[in-house]
Amino acid sequence: MAFSFLSSLLFVFAILLHSTSLVTEARSSVPPTPISHLVSEELFDSIFLHKDDSACPAKNFYTYESFITASKRFPGFGSSGSLSTRKREIAAFLAQISHETTGGWATAPDGPYAWGLCFKEEVSPQSDYCDSSNKEWPCYPGKTYKGRGPIQLSWNYNYGPAGKALGFDGLRNPDVVSNNSLIAFKTALWFWMTEQKPKPSCHNVMIGKYVPTQADIAANRTAGYGLVTNIINGGLECGIPNDSRVNDRIGYFKRYATLFNVDTGSNLDCAYQNSF
Ligand SMILES: *[C@@H]1O[C@H](CO)[C@@H](O)[C@H](O)[C@H]1NC(C)=O
Ligand SMILES: *[C@@H]1O[C@H](CO)[C@@H](O)[C@H](O)[C@H]1NC(C)=O
Ligand SMILES: *[C@@H]1O[C@H](CO)[C@@H](O)[C@H](O)[C@H]1NC(C)=O
Repeated sequence: MAFSFLSSLLFVFAILLHSTSLVTEARSSVPPTPISHLVSEELFDSIFLHKDDSACPAKNFYTYESFITASKRFPGFGSSGSLSTRKREIAAFLAQISHETTGGWATAPDGPYAWGLCFKEEVSPQSDYCDSSNKEWPCYPGKTYKGRGPIQLSWNYNYGPAGKALGFDGLRNPDVVSNNSLIAFKTALWFWMTEQKPKPSCHNVMIGKYVPTQADIAANRTAGYGLVTNIINGGLECGIPNDSRVNDRIGYFKRYATLFNVDTGSNLDCAYQNSF
């Protein structure tokens, strides 16, 4: 209710300034950032139609405000290249985190690709995701490094460096990734933005800054959304024609690209790529 007076006032200002973007920004409680110009709260809500359903374990966890605030930590995200490149990168990121946290199924309400951000932690982890051969990021007794947050951060060798970069103890306190939505989004963006050799960063692939090595060329790792899938989970999903998990990632990307009014680019699949 308190909104309507403010909105009318802003409407008047908008006319005076010949600016409609002011209205869009002001309606949200979140201060404007380069990302919020491209992903309004309205667009975010139309992408994640069911994330706050009572059926979703992550109900009310993943907020627009957390996403926007987390993106400030990585100013290059969604702000590199042409308008199409920026929109395509954001659509690809939101699509990949949607597959990672999907609650969708083939005949789900609004389709299988309207159910991103439904989960905040892996439900039946097959292990504690501790690579004990990794001495740089040693597992802490009793802790598990199962998938958590939008990108389902996994393994001690990801929790350790993510925490170090973002200011939390990822090895001793991995649970914070599924308890704090700002940290959760930051871990997803950290994974997206950070090159972990021999893999390029997902960010560089989506903005056209990926330079394939000889090994990449031999493995047919051509730039495109399929290569991002390869970076995220290629060991399990790539090199397999018509893989249902890869298809789900692509389905999300196609829907979001339409909502962002941008084309997807080519090489959506990684069926003919070797993993890293
Ligand atoms: C996170 O939440 C779980 C319960 O969901 C709780 O057991 C745990 O102590 C919390 N961890 C932190 C770091 O807040
Ligand atoms: C791909 O797999 C789906 C089942 O997941 C199947 O219905 C479809 O026919 C397959 N397509 C091809 C080209 O093999
Ligand atoms: C490389 O990938 C493309 C699709 O991106 C595919 O058409 C081609 O057959 C692949 N080449 C090999 C050698 O697998």
